[in-house]
Amino acid sequence: MSKKRIFSGIKPTGELTLGSYIGAIKNWIDLQQEYQCLYCIVDMHAITIRNDPAVLRRRSLEQLAQYIACGLDPEQNIIYFQSHVPQHAELSWILGCYSMLGELNRMTQFKDKVKKGSENLNAGIYTYPVLMAADILLFQSDLVPVGEDQKQHVELCRDIAIRFNSIYGETFTIPEPFIPKVGARIKSLTDPLNKMSKSDDDPQGSVFLMDSPDSIMKKFKRAVTDMENRVAFDPEKQPGISNLMTIYSSATGKSFDEISAEFDGKGYGTFKVAVAESVIELLRPIREKTEKLLEDKSYLAEIYRNGARRASELAEPTLKLVTERIGFVPKG
Ligand code: TYM
Repeated sequence: MSKKRIFSGIKPTGELTLGSYIGAIKNWIDLQQEYQCLYCIVDMHAITIRNDPAVLRRRSLEQLAQYIACGLDPEQNIIYFQSHVPQHAELSWILGCYSMLGELNRMTQFKDKVKKGSENLNAGIYTYPVLMAADILLFQSDLVPVGEDQKQHVELCRDIAIRFNSIYGETFTIPEPFIPKVGARIKSLTDPLNKMSKSDDDPQGSVFLMDSPDSIMKKFKRAVTDMENRVAFDPEKQPGISNLMTIYSSATGKSFDEISAEFDGKGYGTFKVAVAESVIELLRPIREKTEKLLEDKSYLAEIYRNGARRASELAEPTLKLVTERIGFVPKG
């Protein structure tokens, strides 16, 4: 029996954070044996914000190197740039005609951007979840490993697929989101009520995969906590400490009970240093391997060319089926 399929991606709009590692990449690694996986650098999603072209190119390549440095096997998985596989854009247009304005209006990420009053409220921001649905459905994906913030988009993808199937008959596999039990929403270190984000205005709130050990230690030492003075998992009353416990648990594999026992009566200072040290050790090999990989651009090019070719081949039968179903004249 052929393996079930996974699609997931990260947009290269900023340096990768510990949040995207714990919420997404770490699980991609755990799932790569069991599933046939496509792990994409979704650069088309990245242009909904304005980027310096040279920076976008550098970040995209760096993100590819980081995927591999984190432990994704480029032979076993299909790793590529979204913009190299034109079927994403083709299917996205088609699915846009099966997505309702009311559905897109309800997307919380879109609503937040409108509320913030961003200067560049372009149509891409609005139709972004449709492109994401195309990414997933193009490969008949069974599972989509993402952090909590992307759950609503995966649910919309399911709704679009169900609608399409109900009009034209079984065409798309209905995907399931895969949200980790621990670490689905890593919070900012300086503002533990909000998520850690690549595009945060305050870089002290985010730990980046390429941060130096020194910088990681400083960020954790300054992390916002509370006055309770106990290391206990209580996201309501102690959001900062609970976030640090989540990070420590992901980095060491220890349970929350084990962590509470380990730091019983030890004070927040000791705990923060231990969390920082665990993250430094977690990220050290990733940073070093990324730097090494970036020295050999031709190896990276081989990976993304090969990835795009394999992804394109896999996408073709679905696109052919979809265009037939909706009534386009076959290319022959
Ligand atoms: P993006 O680029 O914002 O984030 C990439 C992945 O990292 C997860 N993540 C987090 N998880 C836990 N805590 C955090 N602080 C944190 N920050 C980020 C996100 O949930 C996500 O899984 N639209 C998507 C990219 C995308 C995609 C797709 C994902 C495009 N097409 C198809 C899956 C399938 C996005 O903007 O993710």
